[in-house]
Amino acid sequence: MRGMATLKPAPATSRVPAVAGPGPLALKFCGLDFASPLVLLSGCVGFGEEYTRIEGFSNRDAGAIVLKGTTGKARLGNAPHRVFETPAGMLNAIGLQNPGVEHVVQHILPQLDFTETRFIANVSGSTIEEYVEVTRRFDQSPIDAIEINISCPNVKEGGVAFGNYPDMSAQVVAACRRVTAKPLITKLSPNQTDIRENARRCIEAGTDALAVINTIMGMAVDVRTRRPVIGNVQGGLSGPAIKPIALLKVHQVYEVAGPHGIPIIGQGGITTATDALEFIIAGATAVGVGTALFYEPMVCKAINDGLTEYLHNASLTNVTELIGTLRTAPGMQDCPVSG
Ligand SMILES: Cc1cc2nc3c(=O)[nH]c(=O)nc-3n(C[C@H](O)[C@H](O)[C@H](O)COP(=O)(O)O)c2cc1C
Repeated sequence: MRGMATLKPAPATSRVPAVAGPGPLALKFCGLDFASPLVLLSGCVGFGEEYTRIEGFSNRDAGAIVLKGTTGKARLGNAPHRVFETPAGMLNAIGLQNPGVEHVVQHILPQLDFTETRFIANVSGSTIEEYVEVTRRFDQSPIDAIEINISCPNVKEGGVAFGNYPDMSAQVVAACRRVTAKPLITKLSPNQTDIRENARRCIEAGTDALAVINTIMGMAVDVRTRRPVIGNVQGGLSGPAIKPIALLKVHQVYEVAGPHGIPIIGQGGITTATDALEFIIAGATAVGVGTALFYEPMVCKAINDGLTEYLHNASLTNVTELIGTLRTAPGMQDCPVSG
């Protein structure tokens, strides 16, 4: 990974509200005030405190921060190696290492400065009952919104991921919906045949928003030892390598979600303001940054500046005017052909 960041001596805890007033990047997301469309993604910023130790980094540059995936009980995660850098991306199989929901609610949330940005929990589970238990606990906490990561294996169905099947996805969403009135965001998996159908079912089941996309499963082999590099054999691919796939999925999900007014957090390989603009034009209301933070912790400032400059040059007053403005000619072909 490129570059090393300078560590700050101590985190700053100023009490200025994240949203000071309307600006070109400020927007409402599920009724929440976001100072910027940028969302820091789950698993890439610890529990919201990690990057605040880096000189020049501020949580205020993000509209929201999604905390690490949280389960009912603490998990130690997978055997190493857990991450591996690939051309233009990275594979990870962390295995949802986390201290469990009770610890997060009692000991981590009280440390977060909720005036800096919006904090979103990321709920994971091995059974529908576990998703419900974790969602219910976060519902009784100060967290601003709850994202459900439906890409976890369902232990009662032979370990297939909930998110790969519309029926199972909808069951998780409906069950979580029953136990929270907080904004509920469902994070869709790209590892399935028809993401539109899955989005439609999750909307029917009561999700307020969609996050598109989670990582794409892949692997790497060490030819010297002839072993898989990742301890778990397979891992999720993220970073610029997946950006064109993520962009198409956002475009497809927007066709279903747009007419219902369901906002999308577009994500997958966003590194620059141009990347972010592509996702917004394709239909995203907010845009996620994950892997890019590992090699460029100051990326949020650069993206915010680039977005502001684009809006100014295009004589637009707010970033929301760009959402879903993709120009397609009548009759333009949009079907899965290549070659
Ligand atoms: C190291 C790592 C850990 C991750 N952990 C989680 C997680 O706990 N829950 C989740 O929903 N997504 C997790 N993700 C997926 C990211 O939140 C994001 O959806 C994905 O990496 C695509 O965005 P990116 O290409 O900008 O990283 C993780 C990704 C990485 C790289």
